[in-house]
Amino acid sequence: MRVLLKLKQTSFLSLILICLGLFQSLQTVKGDYLGLNPQGMPIYTVDLDLPPRERFKETAIVFKEHYFVIERLYMGYLTPVMRAVIHMFADVFWIVHPTYWEEIKGMAEAIEGKETLVLLIQYVYELSAFCTSTIAYDSTGLIHHGRNLDYPFPQLMRNLAYEAHFIKDKRILYKAVMFGVTNGVSVGQRNGFTISINQRSPTKMKSKTNQFVNMANMFMSNNKPTLVIREALENCTNYECALNVLATTPQIAPSYYAISGNETYQGAIITRDRFSVAHIDTLSKERWYINQNNDDHWTGICTQRCLYVNERLQSIGRHAFKGSDLVEILSEWPANNKETIHHLYSVNSHGTFDPYYLENDKEAIM
Ligand SMILES: *[C@@H]1O[C@H](CO)[C@@H](O)[C@H](O)[C@H]1NC(C)=O
Ligand SMILES: *[C@@H]1O[C@H](CO)[C@@H](O)[C@H](O)[C@H]1NC(C)=O
Repeated sequence: MRVLLKLKQTSFLSLILICLGLFQSLQTVKGDYLGLNPQGMPIYTVDLDLPPRERFKETAIVFKEHYFVIERLYMGYLTPVMRAVIHMFADVFWIVHPTYWEEIKGMAEAIEGKETLVLLIQYVYELSAFCTSTIAYDSTGLIHHGRNLDYPFPQLMRNLAYEAHFIKDKRILYKAVMFGVTNGVSVGQRNGFTISINQRSPTKMKSKTNQFVNMANMFMSNNKPTLVIREALENCTNYECALNVLATTPQIAPSYYAISGNETYQGAIITRDRFSVAHIDTLSKERWYINQNNDDHWTGICTQRCLYVNERLQSIGRHAFKGSDLVEILSEWPANNKETIHHLYSVNSHGTFDPYYLENDKEAIM
């Protein structure tokens, strides 16, 4: 009860913050397809002023063929019981998430696909992302955020990746890297802050019960982590608000969030349980970088990808570190491995948001 009350207060606080916040980006919208970004990734707008059912139709059509390849692939793994569960889930989803359901219906309509399968794919993606997220400040105090996204079937997923500019009142509200025919955000930047997600699958939590709890949670009104990120980007005008949303919003599965801001020491990695925070690391005077892979590093476990980033950053040192070092470190194995799809480099103070494709044929390791 007390937790609930606290959550209510938090959303109230976010609401006030939204009302007070004035969005400042001056860029205006030209059209749906904005061409390729300097790194060759297509850019599309997603207009939040459209009714939810219309928002993702354009991009769904663009990525339709690639999407069906992935859908067929995952369907091959489904057992009859899982199919039955999905149908039950689709039956309640529209009640608990009416807006997101409309978006999904719109995408399914656009590609002439099955709503239930489009819905399912959103959840499949959620459970299979492996990533590296690193936030560090340089000798001038400037904060850099780097992140690699790793997925099974990387070549197929790369075909679905695009840079999205979410529009509200004809201005860019936030930018994200998305996959066609999905509505969750795994990495995004709004004026002043960037958020990225890493899947949390610590060694000690890999049990059948856990997966069952994930499923049970799908039926409750809680969101999946990529929708929590989207709401943080949509509802918050600043770093503190977003940090608060990421730390307090109930969600269907555990996750890690990396969030960077644009002021001194604004950087945090939040380890989330479904209803609470398990651990938070923040930048500080003593701590010039924080890094997250896919295990609970704060319990003393540092996997090979975690060791690699630590070693590289420490050998450069806090005084010599530059943003280009972060990009370089994350472009090399094992941070960049055969499951890596794209990299995102952001510097909030400069409005830098640079996503680009990454590729490597060396083994993917924890
Ligand atoms: C974001 O704002 C919407 C609309 O006010 C609200 O329903 C939702 O709960 C908020 N999300 C979060 C995560 O605070
Ligand atoms: C820093 O972020 C805040 C929002 O958290 C924003 O209002 C401000 O304009 C940003 N400043 C710079 C220099 O980017």
